[in-house]
Amino acid sequence: RALRNRDGKQVSLPGPWSFPIIGNLPQIGDHPYLTFMEMRKKYGDVFLIRLGMVPVVVVNGMEMVKQVLLKDGEKFAGRPNMHTFSVLAEKKSLSFSVNYGESWKLHKKIASNALRTFSKAEAKSSTCSCLLEEHVTEEVSELVKVFAELTSKNGSFEPRSVITCSVANVVCALCFGKRYEHNDEEFLQIVKTNDELLKASSAANPADFIPCFRYLPLGVINAPRKFYQALYQFIALHVQDHLTTYDKDHIRDITDALINTCHNKHAATKTATLNDDEIINTVGDLFGAGFETVSTCLYWSFLYLIRYPEIQAKIQEEIGNIHGNIGLKSPRFDDRKILPYTEAFVNEIFRHASFFPFTIPHCTTVDTSLNGYFIPRKTCTFINMYQVNHDETIWDDPNLFQPERFLNQNGELNKSLVEKVLIFGMGIRKCLGEDVARNEIFIFLTTVLQQLKLQKCPGAQLDLTPMCGLTMKPKPYQLKAELRP
Ligand code: HEM
Repeated sequence: RALRNRDGKQVSLPGPWSFPIIGNLPQIGDHPYLTFMEMRKKYGDVFLIRLGMVPVVVVNGMEMVKQVLLKDGEKFAGRPNMHTFSVLAEKKSLSFSVNYGESWKLHKKIASNALRTFSKAEAKSSTCSCLLEEHVTEEVSELVKVFAELTSKNGSFEPRSVITCSVANVVCALCFGKRYEHNDEEFLQIVKTNDELLKASSAANPADFIPCFRYLPLGVINAPRKFYQALYQFIALHVQDHLTTYDKDHIRDITDALINTCHNKHAATKTATLNDDEIINTVGDLFGAGFETVSTCLYWSFLYLIRYPEIQAKIQEEIGNIHGNIGLKSPRFDDRKILPYTEAFVNEIFRHASFFPFTIPHCTTVDTSLNGYFIPRKTCTFINMYQVNHDETIWDDPNLFQPERFLNQNGELNKSLVEKVLIFGMGIRKCLGEDVARNEIFIFLTTVLQQLKLQKCPGAQLDLTPMCGLTMKPKPYQLKAELRP
């Protein structure tokens, strides 16, 4: 269990006893974030476990998490060389590449700039403030229609695939300026491939924990590569098309914004930028990160809304007070400022469901120490965001779902409490899509609730226990969505 320092001396972080080869894998269970919360009681905020043969430092507690992600951010900003990551990163992924350094920093800056440039791109219609808002409002109208149709046809339906198609369409529009019909074969295949890729990557791949397994020609070990290649081809085709039709005075989407940033910067300063292959990978990163997370959040949100109908009614009342109900003006990004209860609900979903329980794994870039313990370079580190979101020293009754906790006495959003919710990470590796995600989720929720009443099937038992993965999903459930009178 012990790590070794540069002189080969053992350094013992606290942590549970582990088996040879399989390490602590049998003790981790289906909900590792809960197991680690239990272990924290015995070993403190920082402890060491072994996933198979790989030592992993687990970090809990807001102060220790801030230490790792902010104060010592640079020292913990790497990604571990796990088999699954290396498949995703072999073509220089921004999110998974193990090569942390100056060129990675430049890569992240370029991707952030492109996202920002695009977020400001002008809408085609005068009713929307920007192109992003226009895409989201168009997609949510389609989702409302499909939800109502499925209810009138079948009485109720499982909402996951409709949500995923709608959010994937927003991402397609963001990345490529193109949307697909929900029954388009090519589109459905890509949505499915992305889902398979995520499943194959986050289902404990044996090669991640017992390194010599990566050389075995087993389906389970090579599945991520197969799915990744299919996705890469889809994205590469779109990017190639953009490279030939790009016009610097007319930015259509993120791909154009990236081409613009890279080609302009290179022309103006002759400094390094991304080459076309790296552009393809960056679009791939944004594409993959942008739809799985947002659709998972909406899938949870609808479940909570039918589980807590009184909360649904309060959100509808808040929207109704501002916009009236169906047929009147539909919500816009700017309304986030004037719908504090709705904002509180979204933050409570982030906190309570904590559907992104750990950040993507980090890894030390240099020898360092934490909480008094030596940690060598290249040590895999898990940040337990779920624990912070359920820490009794921060949250009263953390297991209670209570959006009001984020409102002050005047009904305004308590911004300093909102900042304590940990779902996008923080520091150098922080998610760069937070603003896009918050705006998108807000429009989906408010538009759906303005127009539809969501209900569970009579007598249905709704289970809020998540199914584990890099992002956690609820178990399948049935939804009834009827147009509001
Ligand atoms: C990384 C959460 C939406 C792009 C991350 C990380 C988290 C996260 C936890 C890892 C942070 C770390 O490793 O320390 C979320 C959640 C979302 C969301 C909860 C929605 C509710 C988006 C969207 C985009 C995006 C919409 C793009 C349009 C990225 C990228 C990274 C990332 C590119 C990699 C950053 C890096 O490795 O430095 N996100 N994300 N995310 N996210 Fe998001």
